[in-house]
Amino acid sequence: MIQLINVTKIYNELKALDNVSFELSQGEMVFLVGPSGAGKSTIMKLLYREEKPASGQVFVSNVDVSRLPNNQTPLLRRRMGIVFQDFKLLPNKTSYENVAYPLYAIGMDKNEIKKRVHGALKVVSLTNKANDFPKSLSGGERQRVGIARAIVQGPSLLIADEPTGNLDPLTSMEIFQLLERINQRGTTVIIATHNQNMVDQMKKRVISLSNGRIISDVKVGTYTAQI
Ligand SMILES: Nc1ncnc2c1ncn2[C@@H]1O[C@H](COP(=O)(O)OP(=O)(O)OP(=O)(O)O)[C@@H](O)[C@H]1O
Ligand SMILES: [Mg+2]
Repeated sequence: MIQLINVTKIYNELKALDNVSFELSQGEMVFLVGPSGAGKSTIMKLLYREEKPASGQVFVSNVDVSRLPNNQTPLLRRRMGIVFQDFKLLPNKTSYENVAYPLYAIGMDKNEIKKRVHGALKVVSLTNKANDFPKSLSGGERQRVGIARAIVQGPSLLIADEPTGNLDPLTSMEIFQLLERINQRGTTVIIATHNQNMVDQMKKRVISLSNGRIISDVKVGTYTAQI
């Protein structure tokens, strides 16, 4: 599903990733952890092709996304859902409209959109807030709208960068459990997080980064994974 081979990323002079290699199978759920500046977001950005590596290869579903022509990027992103720390919702659109937005963008039929959006809002238990605007939603509800938007196209991969960075512990737990349910429906899920307690409780694969290198990769790991 995902394969990074000897990936190095350099921003100006700074080596953000140094010869990173790992593989993720279809259906896996994995946490990327490590101190601030370790390179977690950089890995995410390489996956959704916000950035390109200086060297090495980044495969997503057997396509080397680092060599994908620019005009293929939208097609790539249609097959992946991206969840952000700050939700990135459109403030003047309702939950329904925010989730429907990517479907309108690809010109999908209105009835099909309706079906899909209701399906996605149901997964995140927010059908009752479909017509609410982001400002009247709690942080956790906003993130659930963000997750519904990320899964509405039925992606095979979900990428979440600090999805609970702005949320309290209880709400964070709910979001992690929601991401786990989405994973159990067959979506590969990769989450970058500082949330030590959650990682320890979830008992998933944990890849630890430090200074742009993988320092451990543990099948059922904890935040302070064994090196
Ligand atoms: N656009 C950029 N230009 C220059 N340097 C950058 C850029 N983006 C990231 N960096 C640097 O690359 C390194 C890795 O950054 P990255 O954002 O991947 O870390 P992170 O592990 O996600 O950290 P955090 O936990 O704070 O989100 C850092 O030293 C950062 O300052
Ligand atoms: Mg980051």
